[in-house]
Amino acid sequence: MNNFDNTDVEKIFIKGENQINGSVTISGAKNAALPLMALSLIINKGFRLSNIPNLADTRLMAKLLADLGTTIDWQNDTINFNGGPQKDEASYDLVRHMRASILVLGPLLVSKGTAKVPLPGGCAIGTRPIDLHILVMEKLGAIVTFDSGFIHASLKSDGLRGGVINFPKISVGATESAIMTAVLAKGETKILNAAQEPEIVDLGMCLIKAGANIKGLGTNTITINGVKKLTSVNYSVVPDRIEAGSFAIASSITKGDVEILNVRPGDLNSFLNVLKATGSNVQIHKNSFRVSSSKRPVPHNITTEAHPGFPTDLQAQFMALMSIADGNTIIKETIFENRFMHVPELIRMGAKIVITKQEAIVNGVKKLKASRVMASDLRASMCMILGALAASGTSEIDGIFHLDRGYENLVDKLSNLGANIRRSF
Ligand code: EPZ
Repeated sequence: MNNFDNTDVEKIFIKGENQINGSVTISGAKNAALPLMALSLIINKGFRLSNIPNLADTRLMAKLLADLGTTIDWQNDTINFNGGPQKDEASYDLVRHMRASILVLGPLLVSKGTAKVPLPGGCAIGTRPIDLHILVMEKLGAIVTFDSGFIHASLKSDGLRGGVINFPKISVGATESAIMTAVLAKGETKILNAAQEPEIVDLGMCLIKAGANIKGLGTNTITINGVKKLTSVNYSVVPDRIEAGSFAIASSITKGDVEILNVRPGDLNSFLNVLKATGSNVQIHKNSFRVSSSKRPVPHNITTEAHPGFPTDLQAQFMALMSIADGNTIIKETIFENRFMHVPELIRMGAKIVITKQEAIVNGVKKLKASRVMASDLRASMCMILGALAASGTSEIDGIFHLDRGYENLVDKLSNLGANIRRSF
């Protein structure tokens, strides 16, 4: 029961086989907005963030920051933050709903000198450990202990000081923790094997605009020289490349034609190259791209990888497309240990998929059949939507509170593109 939004009884109904045609404007990126919002804990006055998507996750982060004592003035897609945290302990009732809450650990430690953050829960796609976030805190001079489900971090007498953080594996969130914690530490910090996602570059660019000294964003080695303080800053969140990729697949899977506006195509190079290889037409412009298709997709094997490889957050959506391809596709998931929860639901729609360890072998069928299906996590819920858009008949999708975590105004956007879609109890 997701009692945060109390939307777990709502369903989405889709009558499939409508072509998805027209243009759609992409919202700000959830996975950039969340760390950027956490910066309000260390940029204590005059911090304005715009292009923030109105999602369950961004609303939750706003509640978490307000509970810590930050003043939040949220008008439309813009938040004005004022005043830093008044306390050093994050609320368990809020943290337990969202893994990304771990992103307040570093900024809270920087701001208060101590931080108490509940251990975030796992989720459907995996155990989601946080050991690399703890590594960051210890490498930058913190003492970290665990007590009754809480992480307790505090600083030694000489405070936060720079160090070398050599990640044994690539982690988006831990790289973000390292950046947010090192920018005000004394001396130089080197982050090796850093994640290179566009959302991390967005976080770093905002910090540089606020006076931080960061080099190497978007590469696997980031060098930070600590500064004394950060100045006030206005910043706009980068467009959501995963939402953009999801709409691109909506066009391909329904043999439609969609212009995807307010996006940075360069953030999706590997995905768009794969989409072209499946037979979709992709026209790329400066701040938009157009995807159309007139035939059944051609199979194309993928392996999910850290950026700039094929994004794990588009794996489930791509599997929906390959489930109607003219042949077999191998989809390998290397980032999360359990990111195939959408497979049994696609099979209910008539897909033919076999899983062996981290690989799904998709034997394409001509047509999916409408069915009642259950969404298990955010991207799996989009997979169900995409399957239903292509399926013959009317599908019923439960568990759509997952969808509200990461897709802003999805039903309206799809309906404006010609989908026969409604949401009701
Ligand atoms: C971010 O999660 C995104 N979330 C995820 O998007 C995305 O799938 C993921 O990066 C990979 O791109 C946000 O940005 C809010 P990781 P994050 O740390 O930071 C392991 C979505 O659908 N790991 O890069 O949690 C971890 O278990 C969400 O929008 C550790 O072992 O991902 C995973 O196997 C889902 N120890 C791998 O690293 C740690 O301390 C990559 O995780 C941290 C992570």
